[in-house]
Amino acid sequence: MTDRKYVLSIDQGTTSTRAIVFDHAGHAVAAGQAEHQQLFPRPGWVEHDPMEIWTNTIQCVALALTRARITHLHVAAIGITNQRETTVVWDVRTGQPVTNAIVWQDTRTAELCRELGGDEGADRWKDRVGLPLATYFAGPKVRWVLDNVEGARADAEAGHLRMGTIDSWLIWNLTGGPNGGLHVTDVTNASRTMLMDLRTLEWDQEIARAMDIPRSMLPEIRPSVGDFGTVGSTGLLGGRPITGVLGDQQAALFGQACFTPGMAKNTYGTGCFVLTNTGDEVIESKSGLVSTVGYQLAGEPAVYALEGSIAVAGSLIQWLRDNLGLIASAPEVEELAASVEDNGGAYIVPAFSGLFAPHWRDDARGVIAGLTRYVTKAHLARAALEASAYQTRDVLDAMQSDSGRPISELRVDGGMTANELLMQFQADQLGIDVIRPTVIETTALGAAYAAGVGVGFWSGTDEVTGNWSEELRWSAAMDRAEADRLHRNWTKAVERTMGWVDGDT
Ligand SMILES: Nc1ncnc2c1ncn2[C@@H]1O[C@H](COP(=O)(O)OP(=O)(O)OP(=O)(O)O)[C@@H](O)[C@H]1O
Ligand SMILES: [Mg+2]
Repeated sequence: MTDRKYVLSIDQGTTSTRAIVFDHAGHAVAAGQAEHQQLFPRPGWVEHDPMEIWTNTIQCVALALTRARITHLHVAAIGITNQRETTVVWDVRTGQPVTNAIVWQDTRTAELCRELGGDEGADRWKDRVGLPLATYFAGPKVRWVLDNVEGARADAEAGHLRMGTIDSWLIWNLTGGPNGGLHVTDVTNASRTMLMDLRTLEWDQEIARAMDIPRSMLPEIRPSVGDFGTVGSTGLLGGRPITGVLGDQQAALFGQACFTPGMAKNTYGTGCFVLTNTGDEVIESKSGLVSTVGYQLAGEPAVYALEGSIAVAGSLIQWLRDNLGLIASAPEVEELAASVEDNGGAYIVPAFSGLFAPHWRDDARGVIAGLTRYVTKAHLARAALEASAYQTRDVLDAMQSDSGRPISELRVDGGMTANELLMQFQADQLGIDVIRPTVIETTALGAAYAAGVGVGFWSGTDEVTGNWSEELRWSAAMDRAEADRLHRNWTKAVERTMGWVDGDT
């Protein structure tokens, strides 16, 4: 028998898919990556092609294994992590999606969410599911498909359709697809649908009925670390077990070893997502945060988290690059921003999909505020970077007021943490240390750890903690009064985004 020395992690993100082979020390040995198309059929709509995501996944796995010079026989376990909330509805008979995946950033369900809220408003089910009714979450997206795709409602009622977040879509395909594929999800992904009761970890029948989603469409919910079946016997990963599944932000929490209540991380990718471990307690936020499942090991109670979700962070840098042409590549933004001392009075509030935490306003749209003849593209580059830091500060303020406990340091990861100007400004805004670990592919690493713990490749979370190490730390250097002055101006700019979308926009 071949030594099974590696864990394979599949990280299916919003903009790209990665497969990464990790060794026992938690180091990435080899990787494959492929971007997929972002489809914007109308303003506010965002879609992905589920088939493209599936074929990219297989290609990335092949690349990663080839580059690591290993086969599936060297793989102890497979972990899966994914962009959350993005929803696929497919026909089990053919394996074909009935329409494109509706991405988490998509705002087409705004009206539907208002209808579902009725007299009780957006918080109608918040005490049970931890989330306000918002376009962000999966349940209303399923309902939209059933209401708007021809024949979908009838096929769903006849038991032919399945819904899934991307984890379910990939697992179903990996484990056989139309030939007996497993229809499952993990507790963290299920906690983003608005359909799971946070405390029982089961589908809430009443909410599913209110949303008019047939029970037969919903996957079975399982612990994040445990059994998700084995890959069909033919093909690249034949016979290997899937033993770890986590939504991408929860995977980052796991990969950052935030296993103790009060520990917090922020991932700077397409958006920014701050999660803090709240242990066995579901905290009901009074400050615009959501409660969610952090992770669950098989046979153990769930560990919960409080989350501040920020829709736009790195994607604002991509927008500067692709829509404005201010830079040729994302890393160039740092040089451009560093060519000026400050933001020149300019603020960008990237409310492209409305505002998520802590405001939850789907009627907000982006603004650039504070423009004068003095402002240059370098100031705008700076304002774009600063936007991530201000948004993070708003969320951390909310977190501390909800939990009543100060956050003493912030572990960070994701593509934007390569940007030292941003990281320094983040520390300046927060007034606490910002710490980047050695491995910044924390999302993929977290799913690898979950899968590895699931098969005993790693003994448990203590070993994950032992593997975590600090690479760089930024401490606040700016005068506090100045940091607060900038943040006050930011708050004025945020106010100007609100109420933009009305009847005739
Ligand atoms: N040096 C940089 N400065 C600022 N932003 C950067 C820099 N390098 C990359 N980014 C931004 O970081 C993002 C990529 O980060 P990352 O690779 O973590 O995201 P991702 O995992 O692909 O996102 P997702 O999982 O949401 O698809 C991009 O939006 C890009 O614009
Ligand atoms: Mg990612």
